[in-house]
Amino acid sequence: MLMQFVTVETQAPKIIDPGDVILKVTGSTICGSDLHLFHEAIPELQKGDILGHEFCGIVASVGPAVKKTKVGERGVASFQIACGNCYYCKKKLSSMCEKTNDNETAFKLYGRRTAGMFGYSHFTGGFAGGQAEYVRVPYGDVNLLKLPDDVPDEKGLYLSDVLGTSWNAVVDTGVEKGDTVAIWGAGPVGQMAAEFSFFNGADRVILIDGALGKWRLDFVKKVLPKLETIEYTNLPHGETVTSTLKKMCDGRGPDVAIECAAGEYTKGWSHFFERLLGIEQDTAELVNEMITSVRGFGRCGITGVYAGYCNHFNIGSLMETGVSLIGNGQAPVQKYWNDLLKYIQEEKIFPLHMVTHRFKLEDMEQVYHLFNKREMGMQKIFVQTKFSAPPAPGAPSLTVL
Ligand SMILES: NC(=O)c1ccc[n+]([C@@H]2O[C@H](COP(=O)([O-])OP(=O)(O)OC[C@H]3O[C@@H](n4cnc5c(N)ncnc54)[C@H](O)[C@@H]3O)[C@@H](O)[C@H]2O)c1
Ligand SMILES: [Zn+2]
Ligand SMILES: [Zn+2]
Repeated sequence: MLMQFVTVETQAPKIIDPGDVILKVTGSTICGSDLHLFHEAIPELQKGDILGHEFCGIVASVGPAVKKTKVGERGVASFQIACGNCYYCKKKLSSMCEKTNDNETAFKLYGRRTAGMFGYSHFTGGFAGGQAEYVRVPYGDVNLLKLPDDVPDEKGLYLSDVLGTSWNAVVDTGVEKGDTVAIWGAGPVGQMAAEFSFFNGADRVILIDGALGKWRLDFVKKVLPKLETIEYTNLPHGETVTSTLKKMCDGRGPDVAIECAAGEYTKGWSHFFERLLGIEQDTAELVNEMITSVRGFGRCGITGVYAGYCNHFNIGSLMETGVSLIGNGQAPVQKYWNDLLKYIQEEKIFPLHMVTHRFKLEDMEQVYHLFNKREMGMQKIFVQTKFSAPPAPGAPSLTVL
């Protein structure tokens, strides 16, 4: 089932709390995480909720407690809403802020909660998101990063989420110099995790996707010629992803595995029906594949979204062969965004590598369907509003639907 997402006119947000900033949105996008809402895999989305957790814009007004952020400045928001002052915020773990999400279901299920997030259901606090012309940014001084003039929106926008998320996937899973890294999912997060694995010293990176993402494997390989790929829907008879990875890596397997797909993407019928019947929320197929593929004492990180429980988890392989399974968490992007901004300015990392399309906010309803089908060679998109600047050099021009 797909949720019905529609474009509507609504009132512009107002300052409610003294630390609020109202941002005039000049760029937003769709994330693989928005598809989980679209697929109804994340609970507590309500009619009238405004979506969108990656956005940048121009400061339109500020509350009386806002000190650093000035009207007229450009800024990018982090997808999480942090207070800047609690236990986790002081440790720079902004995605675990204790002050901005009071959802009870999340606390009961997880034993703790993530921070509030923009446009990501009431499970993460019910905040309005940035696939809009205006958005309220609580604790504006904390949750906005100023964008310098030499970083256009098409590069700066992705500091909201995908860049910090991919970076976190790589460093949190502990990619080391000389490692072989296997990455499941060739979407924008998997693509940048591949780039950042090389950046952090990996010798080999193997990217895995299926028939739907076949063009993505080719697309990423064009950018990173050193990349190796596996199309899991096109393996010789009797071969699996695990057996293929063993063959490619001395019979032992890669050092590191990173999950950049999601727990709702089942492969076999049994898990498809278990999810359908609510016997599990997520499939363990992909995580089991990572655990059996890596070498003994290898590391596996989960960055793709998993919402709840799964069945048939291969705990035996994990324990007996010393594999580390790491939940990378909702990425604490604020921990990394100053460094990543600097790398963009120094042309050490390239957000435009993944940006293939530009659309109008008014076309969002259609764009959700296209992105969901991974049509038209859509990797990462840029969504313009009536306030956006024209496309920056090297960025895609507008596709009119
Ligand atoms: N942890 C975080 O902070 C965070 C932040 C952003 C995104 N995410 C998550 O990261 C994941 C990737 O994001 P994205 O924007 O690149 O999403 P995306 O949906 O564009 O890409 C996911 C890719 O995974 C592929 N895939 C599906 N099943 C697979 C399987 N069994 N093996 C290999 N590949 C498979 C799909 O074909 C697709 O190309 C999503 O789950 C997203 O929600 C997490
Ligand atoms: Zn996201
Ligand atoms: Zn906090």
